[in-house]
Amino acid sequence: MIIPELGKATVRMRDPEKVQGLIKALQKGREKKLQVISDFDMTLSRFRFNGERCPTCHNIVDNSSMISEDCRKKLKDLFNIYYPIEIDPAKTIKEKYPLMVEWWTKAHALLCEQKIRKDKLQQAVKESQAKLRDGFEQFFNSLHRNEVPLFIFSAGIGDILEEIISQAGLFFPNVKVVSNYMDFDDNGVLIGFKGEMIHTFNKDNSVLRDTEYFKQISERSNVILLGDTVGDLTMADGVTSVENILKIGFLNDKVEEQTELFLQSYDIVLIKDETLDIANGILQYIT
Ligand code: C5P
Ligand code: MG
Repeated sequence: MIIPELGKATVRMRDPEKVQGLIKALQKGREKKLQVISDFDMTLSRFRFNGERCPTCHNIVDNSSMISEDCRKKLKDLFNIYYPIEIDPAKTIKEKYPLMVEWWTKAHALLCEQKIRKDKLQQAVKESQAKLRDGFEQFFNSLHRNEVPLFIFSAGIGDILEEIISQAGLFFPNVKVVSNYMDFDDNGVLIGFKGEMIHTFNKDNSVLRDTEYFKQISERSNVILLGDTVGDLTMADGVTSVENILKIGFLNDKVEEQTELFLQSYDIVLIKDETLDIANGILQYIT
């Protein structure tokens, strides 16, 4: 194995030879031809820590002191209804799509009733249990050092994920985020979300209006894609021309039920792996 990390017990591959070939092709193009496209929640951030579930961007807001007890309960009820649907391998994306729109619409409406203040977000993130995956410093630093663009495409909350990365001191200029950004009134109170709503299953060209980004880096035809749901597989749809794409999927939950689906969809599947070791190993080899 050219990448020692691929020997980890958490790694599964449908076609190891194809992976080997892809990694060699990425290496040939070095950092000059590379771009990384990643999901945020449960991909760059941890799913579990010390046996406890870690929060998503939404959960950080939901659990904060900005939200009333009554509203928190409603948001939790929504999570308990819709999250199992989101990850249910027995349902098709077509079936799930309208239900995800429902979840985001209801949750965002509840958040907008809470008079959330922009100047409280920093504190909410500070007090939260937000955790990036082990190896995140190496990941962000190596992409920055090698001037490799990192496109974070998240159905979470842009303001929150930017704050998490900023508080880690890693929000470098090579990072570009497309996500749901909060919209505040002149007094800094939340009144809605900007632009088209991004949910689990529309992370594709339908929300990527800003194609300027991908045009500017059109020479970067080698892509590493990181995700944790099958909805993340279309995140590279905006790339102008793809020569080689290596898809790495974090399988965090309902492992047995989802393994087959993940192996069909992702080149490398990481089972309950709370680190960025594999991505870091590959980046080290390429750059
Ligand atoms: O960054 P990513 O696209 O993964 O962020 C979206 C995640 O946020 C979804 O996978 C979903 O499980 C979670 N979510 C949440 N609360 C909501 C809506 C989505 O925790 N109200
Ligand atoms: Mg995710």
